[in-house]
Amino acid sequence: MSRFYVTTPIYYVNAEPHLGHAYTTIVGDALTRWSRLMGNEVKYLTGTDEHGLKIQQAAQAAGQTPQEFTDEIAPKFAHAWERLNIANDDFIRTTEPRHKAAVVELLQRCYDAGDIELGVYSGKYCVACEEYYTDEELLPGDLCPIHKKLVDTYEEENYFFRLSRFQDRLLDWYAAHPGAIKPDHRANEALGLIRGGLRDFSVSRTSLDWGIPLPWDPKHVTYVWFDALTNYLSATGFGDNEQTYTDWWPVDYHLIGKDIIRHHCVYWPAMLMSAGVELPKGWGVGGWLLVDGEKMAKSGGNAVNPLELIDTVGVDGFRYYVLAETPYGTDGDFSYEGLVAKYNSDLANNFGNLAARVATVVAKKCGGIGPAPRADSPLAAAASAAFEGAQRGWNDVAPSKALDATWSLIRATNAYLETNEPWKTEPGPEVDAVMGDALEALRIVSVLAFPAVPQTAQTVWERIGFTSNIADQRLPDSAAWGGYPGGLTVTKGDSLFPRIT
Ligand code: MSP
Repeated sequence: MSRFYVTTPIYYVNAEPHLGHAYTTIVGDALTRWSRLMGNEVKYLTGTDEHGLKIQQAAQAAGQTPQEFTDEIAPKFAHAWERLNIANDDFIRTTEPRHKAAVVELLQRCYDAGDIELGVYSGKYCVACEEYYTDEELLPGDLCPIHKKLVDTYEEENYFFRLSRFQDRLLDWYAAHPGAIKPDHRANEALGLIRGGLRDFSVSRTSLDWGIPLPWDPKHVTYVWFDALTNYLSATGFGDNEQTYTDWWPVDYHLIGKDIIRHHCVYWPAMLMSAGVELPKGWGVGGWLLVDGEKMAKSGGNAVNPLELIDTVGVDGFRYYVLAETPYGTDGDFSYEGLVAKYNSDLANNFGNLAARVATVVAKKCGGIGPAPRADSPLAAAASAAFEGAQRGWNDVAPSKALDATWSLIRATNAYLETNEPWKTEPGPEVDAVMGDALEALRIVSVLAFPAVPQTAQTVWERIGFTSNIADQRLPDSAAWGGYPGGLTVTKGDSLFPRIT
């Protein structure tokens, strides 16, 4: 059995969870569910980023201490992920002792390696990004390029991480690990940042106290990005338990949004090199979900609450839309109309319709007992192509491709039924053969669709007569044609995805 470790960014707790946060979290959930089906031992990590100026200011505005403030908001993320059926194995908060231990260990290692040195910083800072900008990077009028807000000017004594020393080492490493950052165009973006020249970045602040003190100079607290990135190690036991750390590290995929490429694909690997820690095996970089062409964000006033959308399309309807609509890596335009259109076409009219018509015909023509499939069914080839396409898609962190391949089997099965019209045929071996094939296709579809729509997959699984937990199925065996035994009771039940008009 192999191990598979996947992370999401840890989310700032100055805002409540919105669709932009849900996006990466659902992608990671589907990816890790697929990996469990493939028989791997999985660790799926998400959590919250609770230190830094942005949180300190948000707490002040709310009239609370930062700790009170974060204690109130962090559980809202955990709760939102429960509602969205996210099967994370761990939830890390950067205010936890295990995290502090890891940050102290990583800092000390970089300091001992001579890559952290004292200096003075004067520069322009965007609190929302928790990032310094050069004049060239700012928009006219000293506006942050991401938040379009006026930046602050700071001057203070800081410790610096000597990132400028790592340009060649990073380029060499990426050259030796092609495909580590997916998709390719996002890898090119990361390489462009490295080739463009690397500035040292400060890793401490003296102007705030909401953070982790530097072990060798406690009047400084750790810069929030150095702190935050380390969460991926903290959750493995780094700095505490060598066994669990080496069991899980290096991570298989860091899933991130395109706005945090610099931190994850430039700062982070350099920090790890300095500390003598292995680099991640992979990064999956997603685009943004836009509303009217703008990034969805609290500051933009256009945040969509995912929990409201599930009232309309259900948890699985929402998860499917997020995974299938936008190719991972590119920006997607979110609209309510788009959500409903995708739901109606792929879920109500395709998957839901297939499940309903199979159950109806089996009830009418086969006495409600599912017949076995034919070994030489014309659908067998479609099923094996669906599995191969799904596997390729999940391996490439391309959920929309994995789901398109899965849905190709739904479409092929619907077309097969329309060609054979079993509802017009008298009961007998001919109908049994067609319905056995359709049930077998539906069984395979359920397994392949499980990572995206887990609840629905389990329901279909039970309706075609199984009593087991679909999560216990193992691929590739479960996708092999011929697994439906026949003789099981098939039930129709309520519509899986009622059409939304
Ligand atoms: N706390 C940092 C990450 C630290 S990771 C060591 C942070 N937090 S965030 O809450 O602002 O954003 C987290 C992630 O959500 C980012 O990857 C960002 O790209 C993603 N999204 C936030 N809004 C988004 C959209 N509208 N669309 C898609 N993802 C976007 O950055």
